[in-house]
Amino acid sequence: MPSPVQQSAGALHELARASGLNLLAYREDHVNERVSRALEREGVEDAGELARLIATAPDARERFRRSVAMVVTGLFRDPEQFELLERELLPLAAGARRQLRIWSAGCADGSELYSVGIVLAQMGRLDSAGLLGSDLLQENLAVAERGIYGDVQLPPSLRARMRWEQRDLLGDSMPAGKWSVILCRNLAIYLRDEAKRRLHERLCAVLASGGVLLLGRSERLSDPDAMGLESVAPHAYRRIA
Ligand SMILES: C[S@@+](CC[C@H](N)C(=O)[O-])C[C@H]1O[C@@H](n2cnc3c(N)ncnc32)[C@H](O)[C@@H]1O
Repeated sequence: MPSPVQQSAGALHELARASGLNLLAYREDHVNERVSRALEREGVEDAGELARLIATAPDARERFRRSVAMVVTGLFRDPEQFELLERELLPLAAGARRQLRIWSAGCADGSELYSVGIVLAQMGRLDSAGLLGSDLLQENLAVAERGIYGDVQLPPSLRARMRWEQRDLLGDSMPAGKWSVILCRNLAIYLRDEAKRRLHERLCAVLASGGVLLLGRSERLSDPDAMGLESVAPHAYRRIA
């Protein structure tokens, strides 16, 4: 692929309107690269033409949204993070609480939340847990609802514990209530610093006291203290205030 072309602010606004994505919140190099790929894939000349195509062709719009959103995931992706959840983070977040409320924010096809569900089942805590998965893309949630990943079909007892919601973390409201554990892994890496900070603040605002925020293994908070969080393990923070 030729090197990505720097898109003008006007072109990005047009593309944002047509795609329904807040493109200015995503990293510039990521968006430029995704736009270049889309030009090649759709056989169009420039971002203006791409915006017009996306505005009229639902398939092209979905392809573009999916490409910017970056749907890469898997059951027990980064397994050491699930070991950490089982060994330290879930017991820490549970404290004396009977019920754990767990939210996978940017859950992709649901495999992240099912992995947590399997860990909870092993710990004997699944039946009292509330689990929510949310994602920007409705098509991901349809896969999550089915709970089939290749040869693996997740049991109805596990699927029954899960709730799925379409939610744009950059614009929509946060889900109601306070959460004992929030996983937001490998989404903010595609955001500009300001949007990333704002997202982390909003997640932190719905974290219960003593609750845990788990980021992806290449992610960290720039200033956990300022958000009332303490670092408890690599990429994991606990709300202290
Ligand atoms: C790279 S995947 C990470 C999935 C999972 N958390 C993991 O680590 O395996 C990023 C996910 O974030 C979702 N996403 C991207 N932008 C989003 C937004 N603004 N609001 C909600 N979800 C978003 C994408 O649709 C995608 O499913």
